[in-house]
Amino acid sequence: MRLSGQCFWGVSPRNTRGSRPILCQIKACPYVGAVYSGFDARHNAAMLAPPVPEIRIPLSSLRRQAARVDGPLVDQLGRPLRDLRISVTDRCNFRCTYCMPKDKFGREHAFLSRDRLLSFEDIRRLARVFHGLGVRKIRLTGGEPLLRRDLDRLVAMLAEIPALELTLTTNGALLARYAAALKAAGLHRVTVSLDALDDARFRRMNDVDFPVADVLAGIEAAERAGFTSIKVNMVVKRGFNEADILPMARHFRGTAHVLRFIEYMDVGCSNGWRMDEVLTAREVLARIGSEFPLQPIDRDYPSEVAERWRYADGGGEIGVIASVTQAFCHDCSRLRLSPEGKLYSCLFANVGHDLGGMLRTGADDAHLADWVSGVWRDRADRYSELRGSAQLGQQKVEMSYIGG
Ligand SMILES: C[S@@+](CC[C@H](N)C(=O)[O-])C[C@H]1O[C@@H](n2cnc3c(N)ncnc32)[C@H](O)[C@@H]1O
Ligand code: SF4
Repeated sequence: MRLSGQCFWGVSPRNTRGSRPILCQIKACPYVGAVYSGFDARHNAAMLAPPVPEIRIPLSSLRRQAARVDGPLVDQLGRPLRDLRISVTDRCNFRCTYCMPKDKFGREHAFLSRDRLLSFEDIRRLARVFHGLGVRKIRLTGGEPLLRRDLDRLVAMLAEIPALELTLTTNGALLARYAAALKAAGLHRVTVSLDALDDARFRRMNDVDFPVADVLAGIEAAERAGFTSIKVNMVVKRGFNEADILPMARHFRGTAHVLRFIEYMDVGCSNGWRMDEVLTAREVLARIGSEFPLQPIDRDYPSEVAERWRYADGGGEIGVIASVTQAFCHDCSRLRLSPEGKLYSCLFANVGHDLGGMLRTGADDAHLADWVSGVWRDRADRYSELRGSAQLGQQKVEMSYIGG
């Protein structure tokens, strides 16, 4: 870790050569006793607060903090940082009723202007910083990521980072047009969201009258481009598209693609979510299992969100994402970056940390890494496990802004 100067209280780092962070010991500084490495945001913010005469912190507590910083990067619940989702736009060409209902995302909706979006160069720089902190998988998302012009150029820039899995989640509407370019640019995997096979139901779900055939053509184009084992995500909303569960299972059975059923979630504040519209993962498994016997299989890695099942007759694999009925917060290793650079430590968070603002004020990479580490270390989010608790904030960030 590189130390980059003094705090505004005039604290000179005592050891500017080593790689270890130091402890701020100036008694006038309100952040005294905390681990200080470079221009820590909280440290500088302390400048705005009135000085306190003296704070005594037991040495044992300081040692604990220092040990925490020297050890692996884990949050308050011991979870490592592994995944980053980057939302490249808050705009979308669909108006899925569970995500961007038309009455909330109509013509008058204020989307981010282009000049507020992180540039591709900024995203690449941040991706490298995150990679240095342990991130091994980046998912590009949105809004609809394929609406961001020249997305394949961003993919090529990120593909240069070694030992990083690069994936994309798309509604598939523009996939036929861009699949080959994305593959050539170095994208590793694609996830396509598809909520129904029945054309009329699909058009009702996307609410812009988009035909299902064009998404299926996008999946075929992705296959031709060389993407293997495409994941297909279906959000199941009781009373809306549950009749498509079995047709979807039949359609993708026997292919290399993995169909995953997602419980309808209470993300954001726009979709008017109700528990009675959640068709649970158990119900999905029961319906499919009644026609095709299923066997459980192990998760690929601990923080994988999908529970995996295979058809007993060898017809392939499906997954269920039980985000509502079986919260998986305990293994969550994800951060999310919004299109203009707000960092969210939980899908259900109500505030983002302004990483884009840090970039714009000229912070160097070491400072950015320090700051992100601080956000991760402070993280204690486990919204899904606390769902229903009265203390939870009501102003949650929208899925179309932060990505899935
Ligand atoms: C927000 S979208 C962004 C990427 C792209 N537009 C797409 O639809 O794939 C990412 C994923 O979130 C899912 N999603 C959106 N709102 C949801 C909700 N309320 N509950 C569960 N999943 C949701 C979508 O189905 C999609 O698979
Ligand atoms: S789920 Fe994806 S495609 Fe549907 S409205 Fe949200 S961002 Fe758009």
